[in-house]
Amino acid sequence: MVSYFRSPLCSLEIVHISDTHFGPNRNHEIRGSQVLRRVEMLVEQINELPFQPEFIIHTGDVVNDPDEDAYRLAESVLSRLQAPVYYATGNHDDREMMRRFLTFGDYRPLLADGVEVCYKIESEAAAGEKTDFFILDGMVPAEQGPHGYLSEHQIEALLNDLNPEHSTALFLHFPMLPIGSAWIDEHLPVKNGAEVLELVREKIGSRLLGVFTGHIHRGLQMNFDGVMHSGVSSPVCEFTAGPEDDFCDFLPDCGVPFHHISLNQNGVSVKAYSLPFHG
Ligand SMILES: [Fe+2]
Repeated sequence: MVSYFRSPLCSLEIVHISDTHFGPNRNHEIRGSQVLRRVEMLVEQINELPFQPEFIIHTGDVVNDPDEDAYRLAESVLSRLQAPVYYATGNHDDREMMRRFLTFGDYRPLLADGVEVCYKIESEAAAGEKTDFFILDGMVPAEQGPHGYLSEHQIEALLNDLNPEHSTALFLHFPMLPIGSAWIDEHLPVKNGAEVLELVREKIGSRLLGVFTGHIHRGLQMNFDGVMHSGVSSPVCEFTAGPEDDFCDFLPDCGVPFHHISLNQNGVSVKAYSLPFHG
């Protein structure tokens, strides 16, 4: 069992996971990696934490291919988590199936008639801390590629909902900025991420505490313009792309990672854990 440090200065505890890539059956593997067993281990470890997370956020790629059986299997495992779970859309996901098969915690959609899974988390604890949590949907049609893009009406809805008196955290699948790795930067970030961040900063200034993402299948720690960008890797496989690599391979023999985010309106800390998987 791993030891967990809890900051005495912070009061809102969140667990961040991502990229579970469930398949349609229990034997589904990705490059030899046993998806079900790895995610079941992840769920068990989160449920045994010596604190109760307020909620858990899964930043997308819940399944590997849009498939009803894959979402059913994902829900059967992830619903064992003993805290409300919120999901962001990944490029491997299907919005309609996510809404149909996954159980979300309480939330308020940002768009009354939008197709995007784009919402504000409704949490009493979060409200007490005057911290707002937004889940954004950067998914583009699969034929356009694995990068992200935030639609004009989604940006407008977000900006309308930002409160300059509240701290704000944004969660989405795709990193908002390049990270300094050639293949990842060409293919994976939100294309208009820098522009959106600039608009957010114009509205709430330093109240933007952090941007939390998945997609790149590796841990990410970056501070840009005073904003933390934190990414959690996949429990299934890691990407190998190095700084100058123009290709990306998979590392299936990786640990099982999750992040513990502690947050109040004065600041945020992220504790990154990777649990050994013994097959
Ligand atoms: Fe993924």
